[in-house]
Amino acid sequence: MPVPAKLQMGSGQLVIDQLFTVAVNGARDARLDSGISRFLDQLSRQTGMPLLKQPADTAKASLVIHCENAGRKIQELSEDEAYTLEVTPTQATLTAPNTLGALHGLQTFLQLIEVTPAGFAVPALTIQDQPRFAWRGLLIDVCRHFLPLDVMRRNLDGMAALKMNVLHWHLSDDEGFRVESRKFPKLHEMGSQGQYYTQAEIREFVSYARDRGIRVVPEFEMPGHSRSIVVGYPDLASQPGTYPPGRVAGDATALDVTQEKTYKFLDKLIEEMAGLFPDAYFHIGGDEVDDKPWNSNPKIQEFIHAHGMKDNRDLQAYFNKRLERMVSKHGKIMMGWDEILHPDLPKNVVVQSWRGQESLAAAAKQGYRGLLSNGYYLDLMWPAARHYAVDPMSGAAAALTPEEAKLILGGEACMWAEYITPETIDSRIWPRLAPIAERFWSPQNVTDPKSMYQRLDEISWRLGWLGLTHESNYLPMLRRLAGAEDVRSLRVLADAVEPTKDYTRSEVFPQPPVQSVSLNRLVDAARPESATARHFAELVGSFVASGYKDSASEAQIRAWLVKWQGNHTNLKPLMERSFLLTEDLPLSEDLVTLSAACLQAIDALAKNQTLPDSWRTEQLAVVERSMKPRANLLIMIAPSIQKMIEAASPPASHP
Ligand code: ACM
Repeated sequence: MPVPAKLQMGSGQLVIDQLFTVAVNGARDARLDSGISRFLDQLSRQTGMPLLKQPADTAKASLVIHCENAGRKIQELSEDEAYTLEVTPTQATLTAPNTLGALHGLQTFLQLIEVTPAGFAVPALTIQDQPRFAWRGLLIDVCRHFLPLDVMRRNLDGMAALKMNVLHWHLSDDEGFRVESRKFPKLHEMGSQGQYYTQAEIREFVSYARDRGIRVVPEFEMPGHSRSIVVGYPDLASQPGTYPPGRVAGDATALDVTQEKTYKFLDKLIEEMAGLFPDAYFHIGGDEVDDKPWNSNPKIQEFIHAHGMKDNRDLQAYFNKRLERMVSKHGKIMMGWDEILHPDLPKNVVVQSWRGQESLAAAAKQGYRGLLSNGYYLDLMWPAARHYAVDPMSGAAAALTPEEAKLILGGEACMWAEYITPETIDSRIWPRLAPIAERFWSPQNVTDPKSMYQRLDEISWRLGWLGLTHESNYLPMLRRLAGAEDVRSLRVLADAVEPTKDYTRSEVFPQPPVQSVSLNRLVDAARPESATARHFAELVGSFVASGYKDSASEAQIRAWLVKWQGNHTNLKPLMERSFLLTEDLPLSEDLVTLSAACLQAIDALAKNQTLPDSWRTEQLAVVERSMKPRANLLIMIAPSIQKMIEAASPPASHP
């Protein structure tokens, strides 16, 4: 994962043992060397074998790497990322135009290692691979909750494993300004609650990313989402006053873009930040500018009037135009969220589509390059298949001319951080990012969700080798909830639920700041997508499709139902002991009721009987109740149980 562009199986396999060696016979640079060194460490970790790391010449090495050249000093969007990997029973060869392709090929090799009766091995095959889109990104918001660099680094490792190549780092927002500024120290001193990256840390992180073939694009939000800027520099705000740090409920801050001192400030800030981030692209945010602070400032409204502008949107376009000149002057290409789209902006600006897919096509029609993020918001807790079904070239984009279509660079998944912590972020990103990465890399016709889920289940545990904690943090979090070692019964419930979808979590932007809310509840431990519910739905689907004759599915369905029905007896005492779990009692009770109803249904179906309307009405009421969120959780097996109840009690046909 992602599925390669072209794959041809050979016969036999290359055995991987402790004598495994790598030789390089083309262009060689420090990035390739460190890539090979990481590859060998990873190989060792994955197999549990210490590698002897003996030097080998090209003729004898297990893997020979040949790059035409080393690649650009600063990674560029246009670089060729293709590679060819050929594995025979005696040797593997990896060839690529440059180091980037070789790094991708090494990741493919690691994924191909399997355990066989003859030892660890890679099957003989030939892969010719290249990405469909040049921009395959992940946004990580470090403002709503700050993320230490070790968390950032392990997620970069995960991205590299999935051949993603852009980290979009959301570094400033109302809740925090997360970069040390030497020119304007009050930004990080007053606007970060002490949680920021030093410039040395940023440089080191950018270099870590580069080593892995990942560009780092910084985002500094303006003119909205800018409270953390005005905490230290209140003169830049549209409303006079003092601004305590952290987001306040109902707060709307916007920079005063009618005064020259705002531009003087931003010019210096952009210059400083442009120097810190080598990438050619610079994201200025530009989304969700709240009208209130501009409307309630007569001076700003007067400015709009005096300059012949229609409204606040025109004022933002005026700001963006000036901003673009500054960004350009400091050697960068400006990007922003789709609100910035305006015919006055020069055509080199990149538009990131988040409010809907239409803006992507609209931007391309006007000659702007764009990225799709709408449909890839990981914080909405959607199932992987729903993200997977979204394609940058679908919808309005499907009707673009070939010239316009070329302007669509790819997409970015977004990990907004209102409800994540260093402990939970991996489980919100992984494994669901993998199918999105595949959407950006693999050919457009790779769309089968069933195949995707098979590979997703496989990649998920393999990602654990990188130190990602999406699986390893699960039990510890359940144990904390229960205050007990034996959490088998809690796990049965946790496996069957998911956090509510979209922006429905109830404690939206609490006061005091969002960072001080404890994210230690069952909703935080629960997986965004329940694999148990997915497998149960498949069983029910097979059983129904077989006309209730598939006895293997029936037996498995019954086993689940019996387990769920009996679970509450063990779970109840655990829940009553912990203040963190009392809110989840109704969910556990409903799991019993639902399972009992489904067992009645399956008994009736097996005997070819139908259950009466009154039973159906009663059971569907339970289903309806159990589908409503409680404690911000949903019981994900409920829809499958509804299907069985309906099957067992078809409404009497009317004459
Ligand atoms: C956004 O989600 N406001 C870009």
